[in-house]
Amino acid sequence: MSEFEFLDGQLHAEGVPLSKIAEEYGTPTFVYSKASIVTAYENFQAAFSGHDHQICYAVKANSNLGILSLLASMGSGFDIVSGGELQRVLKAGGEAAKVVFSGVGKQAWEIELAIEKGIGCFNLESDSELNLVNEIAARLNKIAAISVRVNPDVDAKTHPYTATGLKENKFGVSAREAVAIYRRAAKLSNIEIQGIDYHIGSQITDISPLVDSLAHILELVDELETMNISLSHIDVGGGIGITYKDEQSINIDEYASAILQTLGDHGQKLLFEPGRYIVGNAGILLSRVVTIKQNDNKKFAVVDAAMNDLIRPALYQSWQRIENIEQSSGPRDSYDVVGPICESADFLGKNRELPLCKGDLVAVYSSGAYGFVMSSNYNSRNRAAELLVSGTDIHCIRQRESFADQIRLESIPGDD
Ligand code: LLP
Repeated sequence: MSEFEFLDGQLHAEGVPLSKIAEEYGTPTFVYSKASIVTAYENFQAAFSGHDHQICYAVKANSNLGILSLLASMGSGFDIVSGGELQRVLKAGGEAAKVVFSGVGKQAWEIELAIEKGIGCFNLESDSELNLVNEIAARLNKIAAISVRVNPDVDAKTHPYTATGLKENKFGVSAREAVAIYRRAAKLSNIEIQGIDYHIGSQITDISPLVDSLAHILELVDELETMNISLSHIDVGGGIGITYKDEQSINIDEYASAILQTLGDHGQKLLFEPGRYIVGNAGILLSRVVTIKQNDNKKFAVVDAAMNDLIRPALYQSWQRIENIEQSSGPRDSYDVVGPICESADFLGKNRELPLCKGDLVAVYSSGAYGFVMSSNYNSRNRAAELLVSGTDIHCIRQRESFADQIRLESIPGDD
């Protein structure tokens, strides 16, 4: 589904050669393909066209206004986890009614903002959150729709930091606790029970835990029905894995048929919260080799992107493909591709067989999700630019930060 391909010996983002981008916008730069995002979204939509559903794109994966506005224009809803994400969605033209609010630590101001703006549903994480939402809704004279996040205690078989559906994780409540929350919710005057939700983890490449979780959830849905608590939607979360290296990623049509088969004759609307599936392979991080260096037998290619731009390799030991964007005059060898940050964890890839020399441009693939959004100013580095390419058009959807941007909120005591 990638729109990054070699044409005339050079890697292109759709119709734009990446060397042109480096020349005009500098490096490091995140480059996203609009067509790739549109295709992923449309494939997801098509896979579930036979059942009432709503995609609520997980904003955390890539929250740039340009990306959110593209998704809003296609009718996407949004899964948010903070007041900031809600403000981004609204600014980008997203519909509040298609927003679900997830997250274990929603604060009063965020709940208030969400109720005032009329979001679709609160995905509750605890009994105390139910109280808080009810209190705030009562004060605002509004009714808040809720869902309860259930932890199905299923192993998603993914990295421990991105698994969320086991009982030792902080997310959701047990099925027993959920029943108690729904029973109390049914008695509260400013709460409308709407759905149930779960999310067992991210970068899941095996359909079975996703299907097993749904089966658990459906048992609970049926049990609630016997108590006269009817749900109108089931939110199955996100988590669909993509191919970074050679993982067999989930085929969306197979996923859809497994989910719909498990759903059987349950008529509830389905909500989905995909993040990575929509944007992960729609972006690359473009970077330039600053220097080549050798310590004993080890060769390093020091590039101008670093862990502050893309933290996934350092944080999850994740593997992302790195390639020259065009033929290099450098020798092919095994390099650790590292950034300039003063930490040994600052690497983008280890032991990569590449022809490299100073000045070469490289692309770090699959950087569209959890790339820029997890970036920081560590080592006082300005954050990268973000571009959205469509055909031969380039839209700068976030300028490269300047030093002035970086220090804008700081002051020296006595200087003001
Ligand atoms: N819904 C909820 C409630 C979530 O917590 C998440 C992701 C998603 C949806 C979207 O999951 P996706 O479809 O993107 O897998 N930074 C990590 C991933 C953390 C995911 C957190 N939650 C990484 O770079 O791999």
